[in-house]
Amino acid sequence: MNPFALTICNLHKNFHSLEVLKGINLNIKSGMFFGLLGPNGAGKSTTINILAGLTLKSKGDVKIFGYDIEKDYKTVRQFIGLSQQEFNLDRFFTLHDLLLYQGGLYGLRQTEVKKRVEELLQRFGLWEHRHQKPHRLSGGLKRRAMIVKALIHDPKILILDEPTAGVDVELRHDLWNYLKKLNREGKTIILTTHYLEEAKTLCDEIAILLEGKILIHDSIEKVIEHSKGDLINYFIEEDQEQVHA
Ligand SMILES: Nc1ncnc2c1ncn2[C@@H]1O[C@H](COP(=O)(O)OP(=O)(O)O)[C@@H](O)[C@H]1O
Ligand SMILES: [Mg+2]
Repeated sequence: MNPFALTICNLHKNFHSLEVLKGINLNIKSGMFFGLLGPNGAGKSTTINILAGLTLKSKGDVKIFGYDIEKDYKTVRQFIGLSQQEFNLDRFFTLHDLLLYQGGLYGLRQTEVKKRVEELLQRFGLWEHRHQKPHRLSGGLKRRAMIVKALIHDPKILILDEPTAGVDVELRHDLWNYLKKLNREGKTIILTTHYLEEAKTLCDEIAILLEGKILIHDSIEKVIEHSKGDLINYFIEEDQEQVHA
């Protein structure tokens, strides 16, 4: 198996005349807990949506475990589980039913899906909420439900776009524990975040994206050391904004 979960080479994305990604290069090893940080509008969601096949790239090469995201898209889709930034769970189904349906989309057999849904709902503390419509759940439980949906087909890479936005502090810590455990079990995790504390708690490596370019990519300790406090000041301001929002 390819040692790199993700390789991005010279990735560009334009939305009409707007140049959003300006030649990104990034290699992420299998098993890594990786954080993509950066201010609003930097291009984090665009990058993630390209990996997941939701947005078409303009130029460049992107491979997941050595498979091209466009040429080998069927294989790549099986490898990736995505929890998007915006809440997008169907409001017409109960949590349990929509997860069964999701498993069906990935071609899992019904008995297999049922087992997997129960296992994941139990594991993420959602079993007692299984008959709820997802939009009735609290912010923290909604995020967990989105992560469970992303995990139904047991992907090798879990991609989370701002997974703790709108999640209160206590539930955020619960979520961190779930994610740390998944990573210890061998899943590669890629997340975007605004919270430096989140990156420090979870990530082995981070990259900072600024105006469509990778500013720095290294271990979290090295990045903090290298930025000599600038980064910390920036993220402390961001954190306070989130708290007061
Ligand atoms: N579908 C789209 N059409 C036009 N512009 C877009 C679209 N999606 C994102 N953008 C623009 O691309 C830039 C990067 O957005 P995004 O990737 O969402 O940033 P981030 O997730 O880092 O906040 C922003 O200027 C945003 O307005
Ligand atoms: Mg975003």
